[in-house]
Amino acid sequence: MNSYIEQLFSLQDRVAIVTGASRGIGAGIAKGLAQAGAKTYGTGRSEKPEWESIENLHYKRCDVSKAQEILKLCQELYEEHGRLDILVNAAGITLPLKDTDTLEERLTNFDRTIEVDLRAPYAGSMAAAPYMAKSGGGSIINITSINSIVGFPGNPGYVAAKGGLRLMTKGLAMDLIKDNIRVNNIAPGYIETSMTKASFSNPETYEQRLRHMIVPRWGQPEDLVGATIYLASDASAYVTGQDIFVDGGWTAKGMIVTPYSS
Ligand SMILES: NC(=O)c1ccc[n+]([C@@H]2O[C@H](COP(=O)([O-])OP(=O)(O)OC[C@H]3O[C@@H](n4cnc5c(N)ncnc54)[C@H](OP(=O)(O)O)[C@@H]3O)[C@@H](O)[C@H]2O)c1
Repeated sequence: MNSYIEQLFSLQDRVAIVTGASRGIGAGIAKGLAQAGAKTYGTGRSEKPEWESIENLHYKRCDVSKAQEILKLCQELYEEHGRLDILVNAAGITLPLKDTDTLEERLTNFDRTIEVDLRAPYAGSMAAAPYMAKSGGGSIINITSINSIVGFPGNPGYVAAKGGLRLMTKGLAMDLIKDNIRVNNIAPGYIETSMTKASFSNPETYEQRLRHMIVPRWGQPEDLVGATIYLASDASAYVTGQDIFVDGGWTAKGMIVTPYSS
């Protein structure tokens, strides 16, 4: 490959944190960043990740709902490597409601979802930004969802958090460019992970969701790697405050036909 192009997409020697990387989408992204050359620290609350380590990929425990934990991690990595370049806010939860939930239960569910899916990416971004600034700049990538622009039933906390995260990204893009920090979103469609296990392991809901996709298959965590490397690298130096939908065309599909028909 032409060395200019290699340089453009290279993450060699960059230092990256991926939250929510003990499994699922965060794990797929963390592995991809490590393979692209970044010293990558995947995080989660679990004692151990659901993957074997590879070159450049490490695991640290960190609860993103505790801002001090993510701040401490940023400090430690900056002290160890002298830089911090990339933060992917992938940690997330979904707490579907039951029709029988009381108001109190609904509010508890709503608050917890906002805490993890919206407040934590803000806390992580604010913790990382000063270290990125001292590194000459950086890239923050928030994992939103198709539900950042379209509704989903029975989960108002999730759509509120993802919609809020989508717009918070645009605000932070304006605030942080003074330090050469770019902030963008990746909005996944339906990806097979533990979060979506109930729907992809049920033939009826599997098929129902598939019918909305233009690319005729559910996504895999690896499908998010290309967009992440693009947004993390110099290839996207003029891109900030944007959304990249990696959704198999879910949000572009105008008419529900079977995925295989023209
Ligand atoms: N799967 C999809 O179809 C889909 C679609 C659109 C958007 N997303 C978004 O993509 C992200 C990843 O989802 P996923 O499908 O990979 O879900 P997942 O398989 O359930 O994984 C969630 C990850 O988040 C971590 N996490 C949850 N709460 C945390 C906390 N308080 N502190 C630190 N880590 C925490 C989990 O680690 P521990 O349990 O070890 O803490 C795990 O690594 C989420 O933001 C989700 O909303 C997913």
